[in-house]
Amino acid sequence: MIKLERLQKVIAQSGYTSRRKAEQLIVDKRVKVNNQIVSELGSQVGPDDIILIDDKEIVAESKVYYMINKPKDVLCSVSDDRGRKVVVDLIKEEKRIYPVGRLDFDTTGLLMLTNDGDFTNAMIHPSFEINKTYQVVVDKFITDTMRFKLERGVLLDGEKTLPAKLVVDHFDKKKQYSQVTITIREGKNRQVKRMFEAIGCKVISLHRSKVAFMTLEGLAIGQYRKMLPSEISRLIQLAKSGDRK
Ligand code: URA
Repeated sequence: MIKLERLQKVIAQSGYTSRRKAEQLIVDKRVKVNNQIVSELGSQVGPDDIILIDDKEIVAESKVYYMINKPKDVLCSVSDDRGRKVVVDLIKEEKRIYPVGRLDFDTTGLLMLTNDGDFTNAMIHPSFEINKTYQVVVDKFITDTMRFKLERGVLLDGEKTLPAKLVVDHFDKKKQYSQVTITIREGKNRQVKRMFEAIGCKVISLHRSKVAFMTLEGLAIGQYRKMLPSEISRLIQLAKSGDRK
């Protein structure tokens, strides 16, 4: 059976532009399919259809996958209207890549970037409960009661967080801060910071050290590398199987 897909999705997947901008091109009647103008957003196309934008055929771009050890004070975005540094600027790549999920402006650590929309969707879909490990410095001594609370789940936006694993690595009595490692399986907005807020702690620094089996080995802050085909296919397999590693 021939797989039909929405025209704007196919344009975005080719790497030509974002899906939102592709929709605008369609509405503006700048897109033709097999030489016919198509201005309806619901239109579907198959693999044999020829798509032209401003009368030029679009060619699917090859997919690229990177991981970076994101520095502090860099925005997880492709652009910023306030002129802040954005993470895609740190990677020398002509293709239009974007972050897979996000880390806060002040969070450091493991971030993947790609131009593959299907890969991104698989990685950030809530059903893909992949383990993400963070090194956290908080402003308090973490008691066993606090640890159990976090591990069993706290309420965020009226929903209980999924079970987590927390290890207290170090407590500095003089400076009154704890260094902990927490592994969670979700990716809600500011999740780790809000989980610690829920037990009365403030996060002083946050670093993501691991996503599934991927680690930052060999990558200093700000360094990046291409992901290996075996890593990409293993992540896709994990997403499909719902396995947690
Ligand atoms: N949780 C947070 O609070 N911030 C991040 O950047 C990532 C996870």
